[in-house]
Amino acid sequence: MTEQNENVTAKKVWFITGAGRGMGTDIAKAALSAGHAVVATGRNPEKLTRAVGASENLLAVKLDVTDPAAAEAAVQAAVDRFGRIDVLVNNAGNFYAGFFEEITPQDFRAQIETTMFGPMNVTRAALPVLRAQRSGLVVTVSSTAGIAGGEFLTAYAASKFGIEGWAESLAPEIAPFGIRTMIVEPGFFRTELLTPESTRYADSTIEDYAERTRQTVAAWQSMNGQQGGDPAKLANALIQLAELDEPPLRFAAGADAVGVFETRAKDLQNQAIAHRELSSNLAHQDA
Ligand SMILES: NC(=O)c1ccc[n+]([C@@H]2O[C@H](COP(=O)([O-])OP(=O)(O)OC[C@H]3O[C@@H](n4cnc5c(N)ncnc54)[C@H](OP(=O)(O)O)[C@@H]3O)[C@@H](O)[C@H]2O)c1
Repeated sequence: MTEQNENVTAKKVWFITGAGRGMGTDIAKAALSAGHAVVATGRNPEKLTRAVGASENLLAVKLDVTDPAAAEAAVQAAVDRFGRIDVLVNNAGNFYAGFFEEITPQDFRAQIETTMFGPMNVTRAALPVLRAQRSGLVVTVSSTAGIAGGEFLTAYAASKFGIEGWAESLAPEIAPFGIRTMIVEPGFFRTELLTPESTRYADSTIEDYAERTRQTVAAWQSMNGQQGGDPAKLANALIQLAELDEPPLRFAAGADAVGVFETRAKDLQNQAIAHRELSSNLAHQDA
């Protein structure tokens, strides 16, 4: 099939990171089922086609999101094959869990490299294509930990809060070029995120934390495979949202995520007014 024909048969071109397992695989499958072309990217290209299923509308490309040169090469491969990119999904992720004092600086940095700099690397590579088209959608899979922190989440939440600030700030920069931005905050979804392939628990090194570390690791481990969210349903929701002229800047994925949003909104409202007098009287006399 020629490149031209592929452009005609496929509705849109989706470029997805971390598509070899978990949510990324479901998003790739859903996009293909909806008639789109998919550039499925991942660290292990063989795994990609096996996971997603061979299709003439599928291009599997090797991409470790921490490698900016690989991101540029993957974007080029996508354009060479399909001529354009309509929806970029920054999905790849992992989880470095543990109390801040017990997470090594190397692991903390590795979290930020993957889930904060990773999406930036890929988006930086893709934006010239989207800008030239004067269209596109940049979807970044964050987490409810991107709007609300919690114990054991210092590294993960720092990366997710960071990527949300980046995406929210990027949105008005690229909107004039017809490029939309959507941040997705999943609650708990039954993927492989809590398996040892994706989660690294910090070693217990400080006696003061030892009992809490043991209990908290056990609690997280017991959640593996029990998460309520169905990633196939989330994938279909993303296909629907990507069709909107004005996709939401933030999408709460899952009933638990809606709850986190609502609690966060109330918390901020309460914090805004808790010290209203003091907060509001910090200006120069002449202001
Ligand atoms: N599942 C949840 O409950 C949940 C909740 C909130 C947010 N999220 C977010 O959802 C996204 C997808 O996670 P998931 O739940 O689907 O987890 P998952 O099942 O563990 O899948 C993670 C995917 O990311 C890939 N990946 C990891 N590091 C990568 C790198 N450096 N370069 C390229 N790919 C890399 C993995 O590929 P390999 O096979 O090569 O490791 C895998 O395909 C993540 O951003 C995660 O933070 C998930």
